[in-house]
Amino acid sequence: MQVTIEDAGRVLALSDGDDVARYHAIWLRDNALDGDTRDPGNGQRLITLADVAGDTRLSGARAEGAQVACSFAPDGKTARFPVAWLKAHRYDRARPDRLSDGVQTWDGTLSPVPGAGIAELQSDRAALRDWLGDVARLGFARVTGLAAESGALFSVVDLFGYVRETNYGRHFEVRTEVNPTNLAYTGLGLQAHTDNPYRDPVPTLQVLACIENSAAGGDSMVVDGFRAAEVLKSEDPAGFALLCGYAARFDYAGTAGVRLQSRRPMIELSPDGQLQQIRFNSRSIAPLVDVPFDEMQDYYAAYRRLSDIIDDPGMAVAFKLEPGEAFIVDNTRVLHARKGYSGEGNRWLQGCYADKDGLLSTLAALSADTKVSQ
Ligand code: FE2
Repeated sequence: MQVTIEDAGRVLALSDGDDVARYHAIWLRDNALDGDTRDPGNGQRLITLADVAGDTRLSGARAEGAQVACSFAPDGKTARFPVAWLKAHRYDRARPDRLSDGVQTWDGTLSPVPGAGIAELQSDRAALRDWLGDVARLGFARVTGLAAESGALFSVVDLFGYVRETNYGRHFEVRTEVNPTNLAYTGLGLQAHTDNPYRDPVPTLQVLACIENSAAGGDSMVVDGFRAAEVLKSEDPAGFALLCGYAARFDYAGTAGVRLQSRRPMIELSPDGQLQQIRFNSRSIAPLVDVPFDEMQDYYAAYRRLSDIIDDPGMAVAFKLEPGEAFIVDNTRVLHARKGYSGEGNRWLQGCYADKDGLLSTLAALSADTKVSQ
């Protein structure tokens, strides 16, 4: 490991053979790991950028075993950085892939379908870590062994976080009604969709649990919206760019006193081009008024193609939920659908929403816990 200072003290370079990682002096000083810069207990920063001189430079740098000691001017401070920390926080590298780390897209050939029993998830931290990891990686997972009774779905959310309550309540019922206020409550099949795209932010996780299912049909299906976006991009990059580049509109006004509206793209990218979120729901899309006249025809062609990709049976993983079974979807990514079912028998599901950041937090904490065996 060679340590050199470049650009008149503005840059530190760590060389390992041909591999060179560079760090700016201002970045290093701002991220110093000492107790005067960061609280040793909670890791929170104790300074603001205003406490760091704008013309901060390196006055010296040297390797000290597995650390690099950096001295800064003009404040005269010396800070030590573990080489492993510097490598873990490297930013002098090729731009990221189109998917964030750990995300894996799939189609109908996915096998096995991720899932676990609730008793195991409640008692075995390694099993819970792996199941949460499947949700983070694939965007959905099944749960078996729940009580086939009202409220059992909350035990799924209790594994990692908290219910997100909405105007539909702490949970909502999905069952046949004679006069449905929402198409979800009829026996019609439902195209794969994002739930509640008219909210901003959308509910990031949804849990659906089955209490009764004696009706014929009504299988549940999930489709990876990220894979659908990848397919569209490979076939029609210009159409993909239109769906990323202009806002769609979604709204819901089916309940007295409620008028939910959002203005967001169907395919949302992060500023560096990673797939971030899919919003697709043919039932609650509103008139599109944010696409320029000259591009509307092409926008509709891309929207139609995305819809066809989502409807392709080869894209879907299907399963019939039996009483006591549930599944969770990352509603920012994975679309869910229902095949049509007959009016004979009963089909009673309950659904609720929860927050993905809480799930990822629990996953990260479990993964960092050395007491969880590998
Ligand atoms: Fe839904």
